[in-house]
Amino acid sequence: EIPIPCVKIKDKPVYSWRGMHLDVSRHFFPKEFIKKYIDIIAMHKMNIFHWHLTDDNGWRIEIKKYPKLTDICAWRVNRESEPWNERTPPRKGEKATYGGYYTQEDIKEIVKYAEDRFVEIIPEIEMPGHSSEIFAAYPEYSCTGKKTYVKPGGYWPNSDIFCAGNDKTFDFIEDILSEVIQLFPSKYIHIGGDEADKTQWKKCKKCQTRIKKLHLKDENELQSYFIKRIEKFVISKNKKLIGWDEILEGGLAPEATVMSWRGMHGGIAAAKKNHDVIMCPGTYCYFDHYQADPEFQPIAIGGFLTLKKVYSFDPTPKSLNDEEKKHILGAQGNVWTEYIPNPKKVEYMAVPRMCALAEVLWSDKKNRNWNSFIKRMDTHYKRLRNHNINFCKGSYKVDIIPEYDSIKKSMFVTLNSEIYKAKIYFTTDSTNPNIDSEIYKKPIKINKSTIIKACIFEENKLKEKVSEKKLIFHKAIGGKIKYLVKYNDKYPGKGITNPIDGFKGSDNYRDGYWQGYKGDDMDLIIDLGEITPVKYISASFFQRQKSWIFFPLYVEYSFSDDGKIFNNKKTIKNNIPLKKEGYLIKDFTANVDKIKTRYICIKAKNINKCPG
Ligand code: ACM
Ligand code: ZN
Repeated sequence: EIPIPCVKIKDKPVYSWRGMHLDVSRHFFPKEFIKKYIDIIAMHKMNIFHWHLTDDNGWRIEIKKYPKLTDICAWRVNRESEPWNERTPPRKGEKATYGGYYTQEDIKEIVKYAEDRFVEIIPEIEMPGHSSEIFAAYPEYSCTGKKTYVKPGGYWPNSDIFCAGNDKTFDFIEDILSEVIQLFPSKYIHIGGDEADKTQWKKCKKCQTRIKKLHLKDENELQSYFIKRIEKFVISKNKKLIGWDEILEGGLAPEATVMSWRGMHGGIAAAKKNHDVIMCPGTYCYFDHYQADPEFQPIAIGGFLTLKKVYSFDPTPKSLNDEEKKHILGAQGNVWTEYIPNPKKVEYMAVPRMCALAEVLWSDKKNRNWNSFIKRMDTHYKRLRNHNINFCKGSYKVDIIPEYDSIKKSMFVTLNSEIYKAKIYFTTDSTNPNIDSEIYKKPIKINKSTIIKACIFEENKLKEKVSEKKLIFHKAIGGKIKYLVKYNDKYPGKGITNPIDGFKGSDNYRDGYWQGYKGDDMDLIIDLGEITPVKYISASFFQRQKSWIFFPLYVEYSFSDDGKIFNNKKTIKNNIPLKKEGYLIKDFTANVDKIKTRYICIKAKNINKCPG
């Protein structure tokens, strides 16, 4: 018996599109797992399942008119033991045995299953690129007409492409879409449209004839022609077309909905043109990326997207006006499966990041709170365990955060992680923490230069790399900064106090400790609070030529008692070539011979123009 208190819940979601995607081409997942995936979606009050049914590595949906799509295009040679991007092509006479597909009966069963749980399924049929598997059976619809094979692994550039100059291509696609539309009650059909390599279109006589005949400018406009023609057909069947943001190139089809994945720009451009948009930028929504330090994680495709980052997502760009904002239907998490060969790993990659996304899409921004979320997740993990859902507990990285307490006039360091109530072990004597080290309870007071090391152990096991930060205890700690020129908002480092907080950036310029200026000079004044003896002053700068990050031409220091008249100017020139490669850090240091000063002005001259 479980007593449940009587409550009345009145609630509604902020966004109507609360989606999860699954790629079943790179790896095939059985019908029973698709149902479980839908259960997990429904459990989190998400309502869209975007089913990526076709791609270069296998066709997964039965089409009665073209049986070879499943007899041939659903199967590849088994190269599962080889790295994804180094898989060897089929040997002569070798049978393609790895893969699978869903029959139309399977699809009907799954659609009904989803409907019963208020989940809408959006099928995706890829075109004009990511379609090479089709040409293993129906090469006549490609530009080259050459028979291909279903790729057992990475395929890049994916140059095999539907011939846009051949009307029979469109008949073929329309036949397929007719059967797909019959099976899925959703008003949307997703036609892919991403990453189409257009090399073959440039060489194809038929495609070039089409370009000339229709006075198209280039292959981008040919793609636009392709998508518009398909949209006309889709609309004739009372459906709406969705495509990845590449469908903007060469001109958007009149009523298309855009799925923005290469950042938010595509979605913003589409909303400004009065088109509906679904946001799934890689930086917040690609759940095939690593969610914690790769050294402690099973192999993934790359990238880095923590639970906390997903939770911080705002699908509606500030740059849109109120009318344009209405076009943002919502967002979705994408699960591409190059490195995800089985259902357990799908769950591991999707959960709990989808829990975070579910809350982003349901709750008002003002009601979202990370600390409350991870506390509730602690209970939710038990639910997930009970449902036998394999999840990742997220990143165990410990963040070492400096904070100056202006009342206590002391420097403190806070230790934090994404894990709720984690036991954080730390040291301040530069040794590595172990399970006998001190456990973090409250901010650590620091009164001299100190190396802080921290990590988490669970059941005596180190959960992630030891975090380490050196705090340099200097005279400007606790001071105030006045920016005469503000740093670029895109590169704030740790914010206003970044230059004097005692922490230096590492040779990873994305570590969050570097502040950046784009074209502007750095120009700021530090107030030490009272007249203070100073022996030397030093500021560190970073150069990474390949990423267009450069040292300043020179750094100039000057000093003042009143904050108005500055004297004792010291200029330190850069002596390292701007074209020198690597991840370079240079300290621009000036000895000032026991000056007494309250205000220090630092100017750093921007090179203004990247060297050619
Ligand atoms: C995509 O990730 N290629 C849409
Ligand atoms: Zn062609």
